[in-house]
Amino acid sequence: MAASAPRDPNDRRWRGFVAASARLAGDAEPADVFAAILDAVITLLDLEAASIGLIDPTGTRVRFVLSRGPAKLDEFEVEVGVGIAGWVAKTGEGLVVNDVARDPRFFKGIDESSGFQTRAILCAPLAHEERILGIIEAINPNRRDAFTEADLELLTAFGAVAASAMERARAVSALRGSNAELRAAASERYKLVLGPSRAMRAVLDLASTAAGSSSTVLLLGESGTGKEVVGRAIHHWSTREKGPFVAVNCTALSTELLESELFGHERGSFTGAVAQRKGRFELADGGTLFLDEIGELAPSLQAKLLRVLQDREFQRVGGEKTIRVDVRIVAATNRDLRVAVRERTFREDLYYRLNVITIDLPALRERLEDVPGLVEHFVEHFCREMGRPLLQVADETLACLRAYPWPGNVRELQNAVERAIVLTRGATIRVADLPRDIREPDVGAAHAGNGANDVPDELDLREAIDVFTRLRVTRALAAAGGSQTDAARRLGLPQSNLSRLMKRLGLR
Ligand SMILES: Nc1ncnc2c1ncn2[C@@H]1O[C@H](COP(=O)(O)OP(=O)(O)OP(=O)(O)O)[C@@H](O)[C@H]1O
Ligand SMILES: [Mg+2]
Repeated sequence: MAASAPRDPNDRRWRGFVAASARLAGDAEPADVFAAILDAVITLLDLEAASIGLIDPTGTRVRFVLSRGPAKLDEFEVEVGVGIAGWVAKTGEGLVVNDVARDPRFFKGIDESSGFQTRAILCAPLAHEERILGIIEAINPNRRDAFTEADLELLTAFGAVAASAMERARAVSALRGSNAELRAAASERYKLVLGPSRAMRAVLDLASTAAGSSSTVLLLGESGTGKEVVGRAIHHWSTREKGPFVAVNCTALSTELLESELFGHERGSFTGAVAQRKGRFELADGGTLFLDEIGELAPSLQAKLLRVLQDREFQRVGGEKTIRVDVRIVAATNRDLRVAVRERTFREDLYYRLNVITIDLPALRERLEDVPGLVEHFVEHFCREMGRPLLQVADETLACLRAYPWPGNVRELQNAVERAIVLTRGATIRVADLPRDIREPDVGAAHAGNGANDVPDELDLREAIDVFTRLRVTRALAAAGGSQTDAARRLGLPQSNLSRLMKRLGLR
């Protein structure tokens, strides 16, 4: 085995590595990150082929997501522990194998199915903060007989850069909600339930009128009243249904990132703008753009949005070309925009542009007759999701739900039903399965402290801890008005932990 060569900072390969890493420092999409990494690896190590494999969410398989060169591995999968890639994925240690035929770990299945002949493999983990996300593989060096330890060192460094770029890309794409998984679950998740209340009838009338036009719609209402569900329903009822529905939360990103998110950017328009990218306006062409929390939009972007609403055209960040799009805007906010206009935090001219068809979503406490229909829908939804037979709801339970003032609106009702389903042992949801604050609103307010009294004794400790954790998290979220950052602060957790916890507890 060749001894590890001292790292010469003037080494052409390390200079190339630094240049390639710098190109990944921005907010590129995962696919762009993989492509850039593989291209750089192929050139710098002078390879016949290279590929990237990711460990799937179950942690049992490595799936090749992109390859370069004649060994076509895309979509190929091996089990963690199997083959060289599987071994590296399992142990997190890089490997140099210069004669694959003599290494028992080599898995011939890949060559057999691709018709390619592998001689030598270099394989490094994609590790981020001690977690192994996948592997990167270099195959067959050109013009050389063997890989060296120095090659492995370079590939390992690439692996670390790629892994952190992937993590960042994943976080950004989760923010965008552009996740395919999310989209598949979305249609059921965003089902709009209309109740018998007059208030909701009025909403339905306005929403169906709006659906028949391309006018801008402004949705107003407290947090959790269903602005987003109504926004999606308008899209689905409209002639744009076949077009995209694109949602952007105006508070999720910094002003600069949001600007490029909305309008796109040209290559090199700012540090990290690795490639040209289309903005959400372009992606929503022919469909609907949902601008959530519009009341929080920064003044510079308010001006830019106003221009799009007036002229239906704009330029990408750093671009000259005028782009025209056919997009219907649905904007939502729980702020009183009239007050914001008066206080000069929201432009009056923009307010009038948005305020074409305005739908005020009533608070749930103003339409308690809609509670039973919503409960029925949520019971069906969560029973299906948790794989349980459909539960009944006792009359007293329903009476109790109708008597509560629902400060957190439909979202709170939805959480209460979900929690009750987790707790219910028999075939019927009883009053005792409801959160204490809902069963006994006044007592609940006095005891709202920790929720420990809410955990029934029949549960084993693990289940009880989950119920308790879920309660604390739900309450912190409610107290934080749905903001995960604020809720994490209240719970004394880093936001990434809260987000993982919410996922595990099925809270999002
Ligand atoms: N009429 C409804 N039918 C079915 N589900 C609803 C309805 N209204 C609200 N929900 C559910 O309640 C939750 C909150 O709704 P949504 O996200 O639309 O509220 P929002 O008004 O956008 O709240 P926020 O201002 O906090 O973003 C969602 O999970 C949604 O599916
Ligand atoms: Mg919302």
